[in-house]
Amino acid sequence: MDIAEQKRIAAEKSVDFVKDGMIVGLGTGSTVLFMVNALAKRVKQEHLHITGVATSKRTHKQAESLGIPMKSIDEVDHVDLTIDGADEVDKNFQGIKGGGAAHAFEKIVATSSTRNIWIVDESKLVDRIGRFPLPLEVIPYGSKKVFNRLQHEGLNPKFRKDDDGNDIITHSGNYVIDLHLGVIDHPHLLANWLSEQVGILEHGLFLDTVNTIVVGTPNGPKILEA
Ligand code: A5P
Repeated sequence: MDIAEQKRIAAEKSVDFVKDGMIVGLGTGSTVLFMVNALAKRVKQEHLHITGVATSKRTHKQAESLGIPMKSIDEVDHVDLTIDGADEVDKNFQGIKGGGAAHAFEKIVATSSTRNIWIVDESKLVDRIGRFPLPLEVIPYGSKKVFNRLQHEGLNPKFRKDDDGNDIITHSGNYVIDLHLGVIDHPHLLANWLSEQVGILEHGLFLDTVNTIVVGTPNGPKILEA
């Protein structure tokens, strides 16, 4: 079974957790794309009254076009459940997100959410996180100074570029710097240090955030609870 298929079965299973009346955070990425399709199908077939809160323009557009009523994060007073993808997750449920450069919005929605579910293919379950480059959203003003500081600390930073060599720009107009670390020995220490650095808007370490992980495996979806 290929990776896309594993993503699809995890995504389709995850929408079972959505109940009528919920405000549902909708993540970003290729796995979430399958999830939004499956959720829209349930909304239509079961006449569910839910409200979606998207973490990116892409997801907002998809959900809206499929008939899911949408609100912005500031129009709701809470989110019941957020379903999102992830780039890597370890046995302690600590993860890296931001492969799609949406981690700042994703973290705002996740931290407003009573429950968080991640949907992943099997390859994303790792012993220790860090092989996936850790994304940072960085304000353009002074970004070279931030880059130099990260380099000085031995964190192996690289500005994220598109295929034409142009800087990736986030929804908020910022750059993305990826830290090529190989392994992160102390995720909490690193997260705290990054949070203290002026110019870094948000980092992609999502620690103590997720409650449930739905993994797509060749034998079907597997549910892991924290
Ligand atoms: C978006 O910025 C990310 O956090 C995604 O949730 C993550 O990269 C997973 O993406 P895929 O579902 O496309 O693998």
